[in-house]
Amino acid sequence: MAKSLQDSQTLAEKLQDKATQIPSDLQGSQFWNSVFRPGSVFRAGYTDSPRNRSYVIMNSVLYHLHPVKVKRHAVKLSYTLCLGGLSFFLFILLTITGIFLMFFYRPTAAAAWTDIETLQTQIAFGLLIRNMHRWGAHLMVISVFLHMARVFYHGAYKAPREFNWVIGVILLLLTLLLSFTGYLLPWDQLALWAVTVGTNMAGFAPVLGPQVKFVLLGGSVVSTETLLRFYVLHVLFLPFVIVIFMAIHFWRVRKDGGISGPL
Ligand code: HEM
Repeated sequence: MAKSLQDSQTLAEKLQDKATQIPSDLQGSQFWNSVFRPGSVFRAGYTDSPRNRSYVIMNSVLYHLHPVKVKRHAVKLSYTLCLGGLSFFLFILLTITGIFLMFFYRPTAAAAWTDIETLQTQIAFGLLIRNMHRWGAHLMVISVFLHMARVFYHGAYKAPREFNWVIGVILLLLTLLLSFTGYLLPWDQLALWAVTVGTNMAGFAPVLGPQVKFVLLGGSVVSTETLLRFYVLHVLFLPFVIVIFMAIHFWRVRKDGGISGPL
């Protein structure tokens, strides 16, 4: 730890040295200052002060995820078990492996299963990436659930975090929907019957049940139209919505005073 801190200090010093070599005309220009925000080591007259160190964090979208000050217990692995972070990591992994799968998959009844078979048997790393995607999806459902259990155990659903708990419930629902819509895509017997059961259950929901079932199926039976609907929901609509809710979720963790702690 002490060594890595030292390393980062020498890196900062190295950057500062580089910054002094930039022509002062350029450093003082409006263009330059519009790119490098206050507190940046590349701004003219930069000094290594606590204020500038805070600015570096506050002005960076990436660093914003890690606040300037953190409560001691919040960085203990044993407190959060990093389950929220793990859920997010799995989501990123699923996005990357999912993009790979999209290059080899066509969502039609005629092509879907043969594409999956070709992917597994003839494409380099195809089987590995498909399994990473499938296992990643199972693990994400488990980690989101365990994260929710951890939050409940610590009573973090209480004020001022009730709103974030509700956002969390929506995230859990979206995670389950992503898992369910992905299930149909291989177009095998398992997928076909799972979706038949799932959409039949939706059909028995009160008031709008039959309408929801019709919209999900794109007709009255599981067909190539259903496959297209589930595909668009799986690769576009649901990921788009979950990213928005994740952004709100992370933002609220910070705004609610960071991770909850012992009273
Ligand atoms: C896609 C799913 C989710 C992701 C990626 C996610 C991510 C995170 C992360 C990174 C944190 C910071 C602390 C930690 O790692 O524990 C957090 C905190 C929190 N999450 Fe989630 N979360 C998800 C789902 C949920 C669910 C299902 C709930 C509850 C129903 C929930 C409720 C909360 C609450 C209340 C906090 C604040 C906890 C505290 O202050 O101790 N989240 N979440």
